[in-house]
Amino acid sequence: AKKVLIDTDPGIDDTMAILTAFNSPELEIVGLTTVFGNSVIENCTANALRLVELARRPDVPVASGAGRPMVVDAELIAAPVHGEDGMGNTHLPAPQGQPVGMSAAEFIVKTVLENPGEITLAPLGPLTNIALALMLEPKIAGLVKEVVLMGGAATVPGNISPVAEANIFHDAHAAERVFGADWPVVMVGLDVTTRVMMTPAFFDSIFKADTPYTRLLQKMLPVYQGFHHDFYGMNGSVHTHDPSTITYLLRPDFFQTEEWPVHVETSGRCAGFTIADRARQWGDRRPARVCVGVDAVAELGLLHERLTRY
Ligand code: BDR
Ligand code: CA
Repeated sequence: AKKVLIDTDPGIDDTMAILTAFNSPELEIVGLTTVFGNSVIENCTANALRLVELARRPDVPVASGAGRPMVVDAELIAAPVHGEDGMGNTHLPAPQGQPVGMSAAEFIVKTVLENPGEITLAPLGPLTNIALALMLEPKIAGLVKEVVLMGGAATVPGNISPVAEANIFHDAHAAERVFGADWPVVMVGLDVTTRVMMTPAFFDSIFKADTPYTRLLQKMLPVYQGFHHDFYGMNGSVHTHDPSTITYLLRPDFFQTEEWPVHVETSGRCAGFTIADRARQWGDRRPARVCVGVDAVAELGLLHERLTRY
């Protein structure tokens, strides 16, 4: 199985992604590291602990990470998207478990050093922990198998601003470091995630499975649907952000990609803009593999199958 470390800010779509990952025998989840984003760090860490417990995988370590961006404090405006608790205002009971006694960045460094060449990092939130891990031990750039991240928008508008996607916007400096490092980055951004629509019919069909997973999704969903309605005028459908990253890990052949160096604007009105330098005019930064197309039907079929397993 592919060893995957998921860095996450759960998060409604993070929850879908994590449950999909736990239901995929092709992946070995070596840990969850948490970051602020969809809610404050305390909530994101508690939610990650709840998810390993729901998945009956209390053996999977959870390491709590950054509570704020590296450089500037971006305003957190995720509550209308994911609820006050990050889980669609489900206000679940407190988790039983505790995070491990090291920070997310330390946990990332340790895990990568112990498994050279084997770890795929799957960031689903702001990239703060990943950038901090790189600063703590720059050697990890050469030892990570791949960084497959949900974030950015290279060919479509942003979601948190006209140009910026939320994960990148919440820590643009961190994102710039991650895209600037010499390691293989796959960008699963709005270019593909907004093209995969989970519809009311898709959810109805999933909820029929009536498992502890689908019951949680059913409880969380109204807040997420409400945001997609208010912001995009969608009627019960939602975009498939974080789960698309897990889909890429399972079936990269579902995606069309381009090799483009990506730069991140860190200040001003365009902070968080991911700029694809198609003609290499800004120097020879190692290109990222940018997802630009996806077989949405195939992806939804895979997610349907994985989310209904228990
Ligand atoms: C990203 O932002 C968060 O709201 C989601 O969890 C996802 O990771 C989409 O822009
Ligand atoms: Ca997320």
